[in-house]
Amino acid sequence: MHQSIKAPETVVSLLDILFYPDPLLRKIAAPVANVDGRVADLVDNMLDTMYHAPGIGLAATQINVHERIVVIDVSEESDSPITLINPEIKALDGEGEMQEGCLSIPGIFETIKRPSQVQVAAIDREGNPFELEADGLLAVCIQHELDHLDGKLFVDYLSPLKRNRIRKKMIKAAKERDEEEFDDDE
Ligand code: NI
Repeated sequence: MHQSIKAPETVVSLLDILFYPDPLLRKIAAPVANVDGRVADLVDNMLDTMYHAPGIGLAATQINVHERIVVIDVSEESDSPITLINPEIKALDGEGEMQEGCLSIPGIFETIKRPSQVQVAAIDREGNPFELEADGLLAVCIQHELDHLDGKLFVDYLSPLKRNRIRKKMIKAAKERDEEEFDDDE
């Protein structure tokens, strides 16, 4: 059974993802005042966008919505979505290294050092508060996505030299994308 393949009639709303070094990725997201239908719809569209990319995490900042909302799914089958609204890190412990990538920095993967365990409090899609303890990939993903809400990217953990190289590469890739679109229009 290939349940991950959606039926053709399923309506999927894909949102545009901002690419580094877009300065909008540096904006600090504001807390969500009310977890209502609007927020639930936004979460659903973020999940569709994340699965379609495909990715294992997406912060609202990346789709140019500057509210403290994150979606994550690190499961093999992409069937265990986690929504973190107004997330707050309660505790960090240990240290580990993992290769990270980001939907806003496509094609770039770098090893980043972070705490290996995290305890986070948040509100879910239905408006219920909950706490989550994570290690491994989920712990890294939570920290990576929460960084986005504060305008921080994983390349900020790299040396300025390395970051600048990635920056130039992304600017070149964006230029090539624009040229392709221009060609398509003709
Ligand atoms: Ni990211």
